[in-house]
Amino acid sequence: MIPLTARPAWLALQQHAEQIKPLRLRDLFDADPQRFDTFSQQLDGLIFDYAKHRITGDTLDLLTALARECGVEAWRDRMFSGEHINGTEDRAVLHVALRNLSGRPMKVDGEDVMPEVEAVRARMSAFCDQVRDGDWRGHSGALITDIVNIGIGGSDLGPAMITQALTPDHHPRLRAHFVSNVDGAQIHDTLRDLDPATTLFIVASKTFTTQETLTNARTARAWLVKGHGGEDAAVARHFVAVSTNTEGVRDFGIDPAHMFEFWSWVGGRYSLWSAIGLPIMLMIGGEQFTELLAGAHAVDEHFRAAPLEANIPVIMALLGVWYQGFFGAHAQAVLPYDQGLARLPAYLQQADMESNGKGVTRDGEPVTWHTGPVIFGEPGTNGQHAFYQLIHQGTRLIPCDFIAPCAPRHPYADHHRILLANVFAQTEALMRGKTASEAQAELEAQGLSPEAVAALLPHKVFSGDRPTSTLLVDTLTPHRLGMLVALYEHKIFVQGVIWGVYSFDQWGVELGKQLAKAILPKLESGADMGDHDASTAGLVNWARDHGLPTS
Ligand code: F6P
Repeated sequence: MIPLTARPAWLALQQHAEQIKPLRLRDLFDADPQRFDTFSQQLDGLIFDYAKHRITGDTLDLLTALARECGVEAWRDRMFSGEHINGTEDRAVLHVALRNLSGRPMKVDGEDVMPEVEAVRARMSAFCDQVRDGDWRGHSGALITDIVNIGIGGSDLGPAMITQALTPDHHPRLRAHFVSNVDGAQIHDTLRDLDPATTLFIVASKTFTTQETLTNARTARAWLVKGHGGEDAAVARHFVAVSTNTEGVRDFGIDPAHMFEFWSWVGGRYSLWSAIGLPIMLMIGGEQFTELLAGAHAVDEHFRAAPLEANIPVIMALLGVWYQGFFGAHAQAVLPYDQGLARLPAYLQQADMESNGKGVTRDGEPVTWHTGPVIFGEPGTNGQHAFYQLIHQGTRLIPCDFIAPCAPRHPYADHHRILLANVFAQTEALMRGKTASEAQAELEAQGLSPEAVAALLPHKVFSGDRPTSTLLVDTLTPHRLGMLVALYEHKIFVQGVIWGVYSFDQWGVELGKQLAKAILPKLESGADMGDHDASTAGLVNWARDHGLPTS
């Protein structure tokens, strides 16, 4: 594989970046009244504005040339055709099949997976209808009122993020809870307010071996059985599982008849469209869940068919590659102006950082360029009062994605106007900045002395040229949310191809897991820590002296 930094388009971009750096975005806007039309794309009820980026038409030509040199189109087609593009795990990557509503077959190892995808979705839908309609009841005959999803990583973040975002679509009787952390405080706080008679647990784990999930599930089961006077039979009406591991589910004590299956070709962090979406479907119903899938499918079709120059996830990816590669950017902010999307940054942290946080190429060679960025964010306007200072005036360049719905799904229109005014103002401020002469004029208008003006002036200047994308949707419906998430999934995919890494494995999480397994028995038994480094041993010993419980 030709190293990325030796590719002709990369070398051309390197030179081109030096021409772009001195340009001021405000001048580019002044010079070209069509800039918004040139650098924005619409798809259904979504617009992607990338006019406030440090780019010209030439930049995009070079970036798309880079994408072509790296084989983005071929890799995309290989993904959609079910090839084993997850090389280190020898797996296909076919989450797009989960939302394939086209009627076209999609094959893995020569087998059309659509019949089983649709069969599981039909079972999910029937089960959700039963719970929502009150036909599925608890062991004592009570209606189910609370759903507790027990899972972690991809078996938690996607469903939790989507469920929170779609609160207006929730069934009025049902409340959803998500328990992920092995910290007993989370399950303790969750169960404290629940009634075993009316609570349904979903144990969600692709592997059904994850320590955190199985620990929480065991605690939940003990709580449930105790709440039913010690009757183990209660488990059958209060526990269902979502997994690829039927044996593991059976061993845990959940009847595989109450298990919803998915497949090894669905990556954990790409699984919310599968049975992992069960809590979403319980809360919003089968029809709306299909709308979520339809939104993602619309983006899949766009990603497959649109030329790279007009392909939204490709452009999103290329902009990230541009700043990582040529502007020294190391982070990417995700700033949803929608309280329902509060968990979107956390969701994207896993989606992006677990996918592209890699240090070797697909050939196993160390990369000599930066790969996945640090993803962070908070809902606006909270972030504005926390970390935006650094984005506006700090020394680092942090590209930002602003995301907002135009129409609110709550009755407070005045709030929404204020919220959106902040979206538009922030992106404008980050682009334009404030020059020294503008700042000076403002200070002088306040009647300050020349000395005071001179002292304050450097602090009041904003460099501008801080790049932002804005993604607006008409309303944050399930359909539009499906679109948004799929855009990010494909953006991550394209970046992985360009950076030359495997985006669908996650070996980096293994070492910590292994060491935790080695340390736990010592914490239980109080064994000597002498075979660990002095810091680790010292910390364990200090914790033992300060309240760490032994068994
Ligand atoms: O963090 C590692 C990881 O394997 C993630 O990729 C995955 O989403 C998470 O653990 C949970 O795994 P499982 O669904 O198998 O419990």
